[in-house]
Amino acid sequence: MLGSTIRTQVAIVGAGPAGLLLGQLLHKHGIDNVILERQSGEYVLGRVRAGVIEQGTMDLLDEAGVGARMHEDGLVHEGVQICVDGIRHRLSFKELTGKTVMVYGQTEITKDLMDGRAAAGAPTVYSADDVALHDLFGDQPRVTYRAGGKAHEVACDFIAGCDGFHGVSRKSVPQSAIATHERVYPLGWLGILADTPPVSEELIYVRHAHGFALCSMRSPTRSRYYIQCSLAEDIDAWPDDRFWEELKPRLDDEARRRLVTGPSIEKSIAPLRSFVAEPMRFGRLFLAGDASHIVPPTGAKGLNLAASDVRYLAQALAEHYVEKSAAGLDHYSQRALARVWKAERFSWWMTTLLHNISDNHFDRKLQLAELDYLFRSKAAATAFAENYVGLPY
Ligand code: APR
Ligand code: PHB
Repeated sequence: MLGSTIRTQVAIVGAGPAGLLLGQLLHKHGIDNVILERQSGEYVLGRVRAGVIEQGTMDLLDEAGVGARMHEDGLVHEGVQICVDGIRHRLSFKELTGKTVMVYGQTEITKDLMDGRAAAGAPTVYSADDVALHDLFGDQPRVTYRAGGKAHEVACDFIAGCDGFHGVSRKSVPQSAIATHERVYPLGWLGILADTPPVSEELIYVRHAHGFALCSMRSPTRSRYYIQCSLAEDIDAWPDDRFWEELKPRLDDEARRRLVTGPSIEKSIAPLRSFVAEPMRFGRLFLAGDASHIVPPTGAKGLNLAASDVRYLAQALAEHYVEKSAAGLDHYSQRALARVWKAERFSWWMTTLLHNISDNHFDRKLQLAELDYLFRSKAAATAFAENYVGLPY
């Protein structure tokens, strides 16, 4: 049965952080947009992901008008700690770069963006099935989908593919037009969320012979911990006690003493992957966020990269509609990819620096030499801090 045909300026596929933030920025520029999301709103809000926000991402959330709760509840971090075989070292972003980062969960950002969109009265279609993209290389692209048992269509000027790694947008372009670059790591992160006070006021990244660990947080009363695990791990084989027993020996004495264990409120395993699909524009389709690139979570660049893509894309679309200039759209892919590849490099580097990936003793010795250099050289520490707080746009 035929349902509605809607006309809008930009059809956005996916209501993750990339799609929601783009929608909000376009709305601020007076550009009409519709978001089509495969899942329900509750499902989108239920996903737990990283929670470290660069200054540039913070600024963009402010520009989108959704930063208030983040400034109230987010935790400003002036540095980070790295623990190598039981000895902890601190790197001060503030001293090295003059900048800080904000620890604020992605779930909260998604909620703030959803609330902002609802307040703006901008349309989002949740539970949209069979989303399909058409006529990408013509003047009038279309997106079709099914909802409520009916077929619907959105006619638009541009499509933003913000539908994540498994989305339909990237798969809709001729495969001969797209180049993919990938590194799959033979390991995953087993993460738990618990309502216990964090072990430290700053994040601790841990390199240990048993494998990587990370002590992170969501608030002064909610902790997030990860340990490196094999990809073959079954989550059901990890009752909470086993997780805590595996984490403890990887920590330094003080962290071990301060660790408060408790029941988990979420537990999941995430594989580690680096992936880039190039270019990010195909006719009137623009990819942004995980739809175009994935980083391993070491360094928490995923959300920040999605935000920088969206910043370039929102600017380019505003230039198109307001200044009648195609320059931003023409340069979008090149500008976004220049930043993407630097974050890919940093995330890959931090991952290989801190995980047990190889049994080769030479590789282990190189890791230790590089860490020693990082702690002793101001130049090396500054390079780390610059990347962690976010490279300039
Ligand atoms: N049709 C409509 N929506 C879809 C489809 C589809 N065929 N496929 C996927 N989606 C939706 C997903 O349900 C999800 O809500 O697109 C959204 C993509 O969101 P994310 O995967 O969060 O990707 P992105 O917005 O780019 O986020 C970037 O945030 O979620 C993290 O790991 C991610 O850190 C990265 C950052
Ligand atoms: C998190 O808190 O979930 C987190 C923090 C830092 C990372 C990855 C994840 O590098």
